[in-house]
Amino acid sequence: MMIEASSPAKAILFGEHSVVYGEPAIAVALDRRISIKVTQSSESRVDGGRLSMRRHRYVRWALGNLWDGPPLDIRTRSYIPSASGLGSSAALSCSVAAALRRLKGDNIIEHAAGDAFDIEYNVQGGASPTDTSCSSHGGGVLVDINKGEDHLWSLSKGERTWHVHDIEPPEMTIVVGYTRKPSVTPIQVKKVRGFYDRSGFARETVKEMGVLAMDALKAIKNGDIVRIGELMNKNHSLLSILGVSCRELQSLVDASSPHSYGSKLTGAGGGGSMIALTDEPDKVAESIKKRGGVPYIVNVSMVGTETHGSEMTIS
Ligand code: PMV
Repeated sequence: MMIEASSPAKAILFGEHSVVYGEPAIAVALDRRISIKVTQSSESRVDGGRLSMRRHRYVRWALGNLWDGPPLDIRTRSYIPSASGLGSSAALSCSVAAALRRLKGDNIIEHAAGDAFDIEYNVQGGASPTDTSCSSHGGGVLVDINKGEDHLWSLSKGERTWHVHDIEPPEMTIVVGYTRKPSVTPIQVKKVRGFYDRSGFARETVKEMGVLAMDALKAIKNGDIVRIGELMNKNHSLLSILGVSCRELQSLVDASSPHSYGSKLTGAGGGGSMIALTDEPDKVAESIKKRGGVPYIVNVSMVGTETHGSEMTIS
Protein backbone atom coordinates (compact mmCIF):
# COMPACT_ATOMS: atom_id res chain seq x y z
CA MET A 1 0.00 0.00 0.00
CA MET A 2 1.08 3.55 -0.59
CA ILE A 3 -0.64 6.81 0.27
CA GLU A 4 0.42 10.23 -0.90
CA ALA A 5 -0.84 13.41 0.74
CA SER A 6 -0.03 17.04 0.13
CA SER A 7 -1.05 20.32 1.76
CA PRO A 8 -0.48 24.03 1.06
CA ALA A 9 1.37 26.74 2.93
CA LYS A 10 -0.70 29.53 4.51
CA ALA A 11 -0.52 33.18 5.39
CA ILE A 12 -2.55 34.81 8.13
CA LEU A 13 -3.97 38.00 6.57
CA PHE A 14 -5.75 39.30 9.67
CA GLY A 15 -6.15 38.42 13.31
CA GLU A 16 -3.02 36.57 14.47
CA HIS A 17 -2.74 36.79 18.26
CA SER A 18 -6.21 38.34 18.68
CA VAL A 19 -7.65 34.95 17.55
CA VAL A 20 -6.19 33.46 20.75
CA TYR A 21 -8.61 35.72 22.69
CA GLY A 22 -11.67 34.75 20.65
CA GLU A 23 -11.46 37.44 17.95
CA PRO A 24 -11.86 36.44 14.28
CA ALA A 25 -8.89 35.61 12.04
CA ILE A 26 -8.58 35.29 8.26
CA ALA A 27 -6.00 33.13 6.51
CA VAL A 28 -5.35 32.07 2.93
CA ALA A 29 -3.65 29.00 1.45
CA LEU A 30 -0.64 29.63 -0.79
CA ASP A 31 0.67 27.87 -3.88
CA ARG A 32 3.62 26.13 -2.21
CA ARG A 33 3.12 22.66 -0.79
CA ILE A 34 4.48 19.83 1.31
CA SER A 35 3.94 16.31 -0.03
CA ILE A 36 4.43 13.05 1.83
CA LYS A 37 4.52 9.41 0.73
CA VAL A 38 3.53 6.83 3.32
CA THR A 39 4.26 3.11 2.98
CA GLN A 40 4.19 0.18 5.40
CA SER A 41 7.59 -0.67 6.84
CA SER A 42 9.35 -2.85 9.40
CA GLU A 43 10.01 0.19 11.61
CA SER A 44 8.81 3.81 11.65
CA ARG A 45 11.08 6.03 9.61
CA VAL A 46 11.03 9.62 8.32
CA ASP A 47 13.09 10.44 5.22
CA GLY A 48 15.13 7.30 5.69
CA GLY A 49 16.05 7.93 9.34
CA ARG A 50 14.68 6.71 12.67
CA LEU A 51 12.03 8.91 14.29
CA SER A 52 13.88 11.63 16.15
CA MET A 53 12.53 13.37 19.29
CA ARG A 54 13.86 16.71 18.12
CA ARG A 55 13.54 16.68 14.32
CA HIS A 56 10.27 14.79 13.88
CA ARG A 57 8.11 16.16 16.70
CA TYR A 58 4.96 16.48 14.60
CA VAL A 59 5.20 13.04 12.96
CA ARG A 60 6.14 11.43 16.27
CA TRP A 61 3.12 12.87 18.03
CA ALA A 62 0.85 11.81 15.16
CA LEU A 63 2.14 8.24 15.03
CA GLY A 64 2.13 7.93 18.81
CA ASN A 65 -1.41 9.25 19.28
CA LEU A 66 -3.39 8.85 16.08
CA TRP A 67 -2.07 5.54 14.75
CA ASP A 68 -2.10 1.99 16.05
CA GLY A 69 -1.40 0.12 12.81
CA PRO A 70 1.94 -1.28 11.58
CA PRO A 71 5.12 0.86 11.42
CA LEU A 72 5.17 3.40 8.59
CA ASP A 73 7.86 4.83 6.39
CA ILE A 74 7.17 8.53 5.64
CA ARG A 75 9.04 10.44 2.95
CA THR A 76 8.56 14.20 2.86
CA ARG A 77 9.15 16.67 0.07
CA SER A 78 8.72 20.33 0.88
CA TYR A 79 8.50 23.45 -1.23
CA ILE A 80 7.67 25.47 1.87
CA PRO A 81 10.75 26.96 3.54
CA SER A 82 10.69 25.91 7.19
CA ALA A 83 10.62 28.46 10.05
CA SER A 84 9.62 31.14 7.52
CA GLY A 85 6.13 31.83 8.90
CA LEU A 86 4.53 30.10 5.91
CA GLY A 87 3.02 27.28 7.95
CA SER A 88 5.28 24.39 7.03
CA SER A 89 4.50 22.58 10.30
CA ALA A 90 0.74 23.02 9.75
CA ALA A 91 1.04 21.69 6.17
CA LEU A 92 3.04 18.69 7.40
CA SER A 93 0.52 18.03 10.19
CA CYS A 94 -2.37 18.23 7.70
CA SER A 95 -0.67 15.83 5.27
CA VAL A 96 0.20 13.29 7.96
CA ALA A 97 -3.27 13.50 9.51
CA ALA A 98 -4.99 13.03 6.15
CA ALA A 99 -2.74 10.10 5.17
CA LEU A 100 -3.38 8.31 8.49
CA ARG A 101 -7.14 8.88 8.17
CA ARG A 102 -7.10 7.56 4.61
CA LEU A 103 -5.21 4.43 5.71
CA LYS A 104 -8.07 3.87 8.14
CA GLY A 105 -10.59 4.26 5.29
CA ASP A 106 -11.71 7.78 6.25
CA ASN A 107 -11.50 10.45 3.54
CA ILE A 108 -13.46 13.13 5.36
CA ILE A 109 -11.35 16.29 5.35
CA GLU A 110 -13.06 17.68 8.46
CA HIS A 111 -11.74 14.70 10.46
CA ALA A 112 -8.20 15.18 9.12
CA ALA A 113 -8.38 18.92 9.91
CA GLY A 114 -9.35 18.07 13.51
CA ASP A 115 -6.44 15.62 13.81
CA ALA A 116 -4.01 18.14 12.31
CA PHE A 117 -5.15 20.71 14.88
CA ASP A 118 -4.57 18.14 17.66
CA ILE A 119 -1.03 17.54 16.37
CA GLU A 120 -0.14 21.27 16.32
CA TYR A 121 -1.90 22.00 19.59
CA ASN A 122 -0.09 19.26 21.46
CA VAL A 123 3.35 19.71 19.92
CA GLN A 124 3.30 23.51 20.33
CA GLY A 125 1.55 23.45 23.70
CA GLY A 126 -1.47 25.46 22.44
CA ALA A 127 -2.64 26.94 19.15
CA SER A 128 -5.76 28.14 17.38
CA PRO A 129 -6.95 25.99 14.44
CA THR A 130 -6.29 28.84 11.95
CA ASP A 131 -3.20 27.40 10.25
CA THR A 132 -4.27 23.75 10.10
CA SER A 133 -7.85 24.51 9.00
CA CYS A 134 -6.59 26.87 6.29
CA SER A 135 -4.10 24.33 4.96
CA SER A 136 -6.66 21.48 5.08
CA HIS A 137 -9.37 23.45 3.31
CA GLY A 138 -7.35 25.60 0.87
CA GLY A 139 -8.59 28.96 -0.43
CA GLY A 140 -9.55 31.23 2.45
CA VAL A 141 -10.92 30.62 5.93
CA LEU A 142 -12.43 32.76 8.64
CA VAL A 143 -11.94 31.39 12.15
CA ASP A 144 -14.38 32.82 14.65
CA ILE A 145 -16.02 31.94 17.97
CA ASN A 146 -19.37 32.84 16.39
CA LYS A 147 -20.95 30.40 13.98
CA GLY A 148 -21.90 32.24 10.79
CA GLU A 149 -22.67 31.51 7.17
CA ASP A 150 -20.47 29.20 5.03
CA HIS A 151 -19.61 27.16 8.12
CA LEU A 152 -17.17 24.30 7.42
CA TRP A 153 -16.45 22.73 10.81
CA SER A 154 -16.00 23.50 14.50
CA LEU A 155 -13.09 22.56 16.74
CA SER A 156 -12.86 22.77 20.52
CA LYS A 157 -10.13 22.77 23.16
CA GLY A 158 -11.05 23.16 26.80
CA GLU A 159 -13.69 25.86 27.14
CA ARG A 160 -13.11 27.33 23.69
CA THR A 161 -14.81 26.41 20.41
CA TRP A 162 -13.67 27.87 17.10
CA HIS A 163 -15.97 27.79 14.07
CA VAL A 164 -14.20 27.61 10.73
CA HIS A 165 -15.87 29.21 7.70
CA ASP A 166 -15.15 29.17 4.00
CA ILE A 167 -14.35 32.50 2.38
CA GLU A 168 -13.63 33.07 -1.28
CA PRO A 169 -10.56 35.27 -1.57
CA PRO A 170 -10.06 37.46 -4.64
CA GLU A 171 -7.04 36.76 -6.82
CA MET A 172 -4.13 38.16 -4.90
CA THR A 173 -0.39 38.30 -5.39
CA ILE A 174 1.44 38.33 -2.13
CA VAL A 175 5.13 38.74 -1.53
CA VAL A 176 6.33 37.07 1.65
CA GLY A 177 9.48 38.59 3.15
CA TYR A 178 11.34 36.29 5.52
CA THR A 179 13.53 38.18 8.00
CA ARG A 180 15.95 35.22 8.42
CA LYS A 181 15.23 35.54 12.15
CA PRO A 182 13.18 32.61 13.52
CA SER A 183 9.76 33.27 14.97
CA VAL A 184 9.02 31.15 18.02
CA THR A 185 5.23 31.05 18.32
CA PRO A 186 4.91 30.00 22.01
CA ILE A 187 7.29 32.78 23.13
CA GLN A 188 5.34 35.47 21.27
CA VAL A 189 1.97 34.09 22.43
CA LYS A 190 3.23 34.16 26.05
CA LYS A 191 4.51 37.71 25.69
CA VAL A 192 1.14 38.93 24.41
CA ARG A 193 -0.61 36.99 27.20
CA GLY A 194 1.40 38.88 29.84
CA PHE A 195 0.57 42.26 28.28
CA TYR A 196 -3.11 41.31 27.80
CA ASP A 197 -3.53 40.18 31.40
CA ARG A 198 -2.09 43.33 32.95
CA SER A 199 -3.19 46.06 30.53
CA GLY A 200 -6.65 47.31 29.61
CA PHE A 201 -5.00 49.05 26.67
CA ALA A 202 -3.74 45.69 25.33
CA ARG A 203 -7.22 44.21 25.72
CA GLU A 204 -8.70 47.17 23.79
CA THR A 205 -6.08 46.70 21.07
CA VAL A 206 -7.02 43.02 20.73
CA LYS A 207 -10.72 43.99 20.44
CA GLU A 208 -9.88 46.56 17.77
CA MET A 209 -8.09 43.83 15.81
CA GLY A 210 -11.30 41.82 15.87
CA VAL A 211 -13.34 44.74 14.47
CA LEU A 212 -10.68 45.22 11.82
CA ALA A 213 -10.81 41.54 10.79
CA MET A 214 -14.58 41.80 10.26
CA ASP A 215 -14.07 44.94 8.12
CA ALA A 216 -11.46 42.98 6.17
CA LEU A 217 -13.96 40.16 5.62
CA LYS A 218 -16.27 42.66 3.89
CA ALA A 219 -13.42 43.99 1.76
CA ILE A 220 -12.42 40.42 0.79
CA LYS A 221 -16.00 39.56 -0.17
CA ASN A 222 -16.14 42.74 -2.30
CA GLY A 223 -12.75 41.98 -3.88
CA ASP A 224 -11.62 45.47 -2.73
CA ILE A 225 -7.84 45.06 -2.84
CA VAL A 226 -7.18 48.72 -1.92
CA ARG A 227 -9.24 48.42 1.27
CA ILE A 228 -7.69 45.04 2.13
CA GLY A 229 -4.27 46.72 1.87
CA GLU A 230 -5.29 49.64 4.11
CA LEU A 231 -6.56 47.25 6.73
CA MET A 232 -3.34 45.20 6.56
CA ASN A 233 -1.38 48.38 7.37
CA LYS A 234 -3.66 49.06 10.33
CA ASN A 235 -3.39 45.47 11.54
CA HIS A 236 0.40 45.77 11.44
CA SER A 237 0.29 48.91 13.62
CA LEU A 238 -1.91 47.14 16.18
CA LEU A 239 0.40 44.10 16.21
CA SER A 240 3.35 46.45 16.79
CA ILE A 241 1.51 47.94 19.77
CA LEU A 242 1.16 44.41 21.16
CA GLY A 243 4.95 44.10 20.90
CA VAL A 244 5.27 41.33 18.31
CA SER A 245 6.97 43.32 15.55
CA CYS A 246 10.74 43.79 15.59
CA ARG A 247 13.39 45.85 13.81
CA GLU A 248 13.82 43.29 11.00
CA LEU A 249 10.09 42.95 10.34
CA GLN A 250 9.59 46.72 10.38
CA SER A 251 12.45 47.20 7.95
CA LEU A 252 10.86 44.79 5.41
CA VAL A 253 7.38 46.29 5.90
CA ASP A 254 8.83 49.80 5.27
CA ALA A 255 10.79 48.59 2.24
CA SER A 256 7.77 47.04 0.56
CA SER A 257 5.17 49.74 1.30
CA PRO A 258 6.00 52.07 -1.68
CA HIS A 259 4.99 49.27 -4.09
CA SER A 260 2.20 47.64 -2.08
CA TYR A 261 -1.47 48.10 -1.27
CA GLY A 262 -0.56 47.10 2.25
CA SER A 263 1.93 45.12 4.27
CA LYS A 264 2.13 43.57 7.70
CA LEU A 265 3.89 40.96 9.76
CA THR A 266 2.23 37.56 9.49
CA GLY A 267 1.97 34.79 12.07
CA ALA A 268 3.42 35.02 15.53
CA GLY A 269 6.06 37.70 14.80
CA GLY A 270 9.18 38.61 16.76
CA GLY A 271 10.94 37.52 13.54
CA GLY A 272 9.58 35.18 10.88
CA SER A 273 7.90 36.87 7.95
CA MET A 274 5.88 39.80 6.70
CA ILE A 275 3.52 39.85 3.73
CA ALA A 276 2.86 42.55 1.15
CA LEU A 277 -0.22 42.69 -1.08
CA THR A 278 0.93 44.05 -4.43
CA ASP A 279 0.63 44.06 -8.18
CA GLU A 280 4.34 44.83 -8.50
CA PRO A 281 5.76 41.66 -6.94
CA ASP A 282 9.19 41.93 -8.57
CA LYS A 283 9.74 45.44 -7.20
CA VAL A 284 8.64 44.38 -3.72
CA ALA A 285 10.85 41.29 -3.87
CA GLU A 286 13.82 43.43 -4.89
CA SER A 287 13.22 45.90 -2.02
CA ILE A 288 12.99 43.03 0.46
CA LYS A 289 16.25 41.56 -0.82
CA LYS A 290 18.02 44.91 -0.53
CA ARG A 291 17.12 44.98 3.17
CA GLY A 292 18.55 41.49 3.69
CA GLY A 293 15.22 39.60 3.67
CA VAL A 294 14.31 36.54 1.62
CA PRO A 295 11.33 37.17 -0.72
CA TYR A 296 8.83 34.57 -1.95
CA ILE A 297 6.27 35.61 -4.55
CA VAL A 298 3.10 33.56 -3.94
CA ASN A 299 -0.52 33.38 -5.01
CA VAL A 300 -3.58 32.15 -3.18
CA SER A 301 -4.22 28.46 -3.83
CA MET A 302 -7.73 27.02 -3.81
CA VAL A 303 -6.40 23.47 -3.32
CA GLY A 304 -6.30 22.25 0.28
CA THR A 305 -5.07 18.86 1.51
CA GLU A 306 -5.23 16.16 -1.15
CA THR A 307 -4.59 12.43 -0.83
CA HIS A 308 -3.99 9.75 -3.46
CA GLY A 309 -3.15 6.09 -3.23
CA SER A 310 -4.19 2.52 -2.90
CA GLU A 311 -7.56 1.94 -1.30
CA MET A 312 -6.28 -1.06 0.68
CA THR A 313 -6.79 0.13 4.22
CA ILE A 314 -5.23 -0.84 7.52
CA SER A 315 -7.24 -0.61 10.70
O1 PMV B 1 3.45 31.92 13.14
P1 PMV B 1 2.34 30.95 13.27
O2 PMV B 1 1.85 30.44 11.97
O3 PMV B 1 2.61 29.87 14.25
O4 PMV B 1 1.07 31.79 13.78
C1 PMV B 1 0.60 31.80 15.05
C2 PMV B 1 -0.67 32.57 15.11
C3 PMV B 1 -1.05 32.95 16.52
O5 PMV B 1 -2.30 33.63 16.42
C4 PMV B 1 -0.02 33.88 17.13
C5 PMV B 1 -1.22 31.72 17.41
C6 PMV B 1 -2.35 30.82 16.99
O6 PMV B 1 -2.25 29.62 17.31
O7 PMV B 1 -3.35 31.27 16.40
